[in-house]
Amino acid sequence: MKFFKLFTAFNIRNIRILNRIVMPAMHLGLAQNGEMTKKLTDFYVERAKGGAGLLIIGGCYVDIYGKGLPSMISVDSDDFLPKLTEFTEKVHRARDDVKICCQLYHGGAYAFPQIIGRTPIAPSAVYSNFSKTTPKEMTLEDIKREQQAFADASVRAKKAGFDAVEICGNAGYLTDQFCSPKTNKRTDKYGGDLENRLRFPIETIELMRSKVEDFPIGYRISGDDFVPGSNTYKDKLIIANRLGEYLDYFNVTGGWHENCAQIA
Ligand SMILES: Cc1cc2nc3c(=O)[nH]c(=O)nc-3n(C[C@H](O)[C@H](O)[C@H](O)COP(=O)(O)O)c2cc1C
Repeated sequence: MKFFKLFTAFNIRNIRILNRIVMPAMHLGLAQNGEMTKKLTDFYVERAKGGAGLLIIGGCYVDIYGKGLPSMISVDSDDFLPKLTEFTEKVHRARDDVKICCQLYHGGAYAFPQIIGRTPIAPSAVYSNFSKTTPKEMTLEDIKREQQAFADASVRAKKAGFDAVEICGNAGYLTDQFCSPKTNKRTDKYGGDLENRLRFPIETIELMRSKVEDFPIGYRISGDDFVPGSNTYKDKLIIANRLGEYLDYFNVTGGWHENCAQIA
């Protein structure tokens, strides 16, 4: 088999990716109180030396409401900037042409009350088969605050020396919950028809763009939710076309976490 394209460069917005080998985000459980650690840095220094064109780091939670697991990386405050900056410097020093992207994570209904110390928030108060929790429906104030958290996190990622950001919009996380008729039962402008359900991610991306301008913004999307009553690959094609108007790339995966929970 011939790999004509694998070792050819391509551009995402204004950054050059050396080859088509991308390492997707993988929560490693190595952060401490949200901080980058030596173990995490050493891990990605080795991956950079390995030759991948793009390393996606995370998920990195943008706000305490979005935190998924205790040992996750945080981008929710400037307090984390020194260690994040040290991280990107060390990875770039290991190979100066590697690109590193910060994956912005918000669990929404997938957050666990035991971890965030409060009731999770989501588009609607629909029981989550993953967190085994019924979240609180987000008020308009919650919506604005969490959108701002994504925008602030993008600014931080850029300041810290990342080359791009990616919204973790796959697997049933917050933006996916807004897009889905199964988890979004709102009757205001953020719910109802597809255009209304896409308002939260679109406004979020637009706000991020207004703060980081010429900085690549990607989106990880589930190509099909594989959850009864949620979006299928046919819906996702329409969603991708609409969200794609505001984005620099998609990273496509499949399924929500709760399809595993349903099997268990
Ligand atoms: C331990 C672990 C943690 C993961 N964490 C994330 C994550 O934070 N964000 C994300 O988008 N995907 C996450 N994933 C999914 C991976 O990015 C990837 O899609 C999955 O492992 C399938 O890889 P493959 O396409 O090489 O088979 C995680 C996977 C594993 C195994």
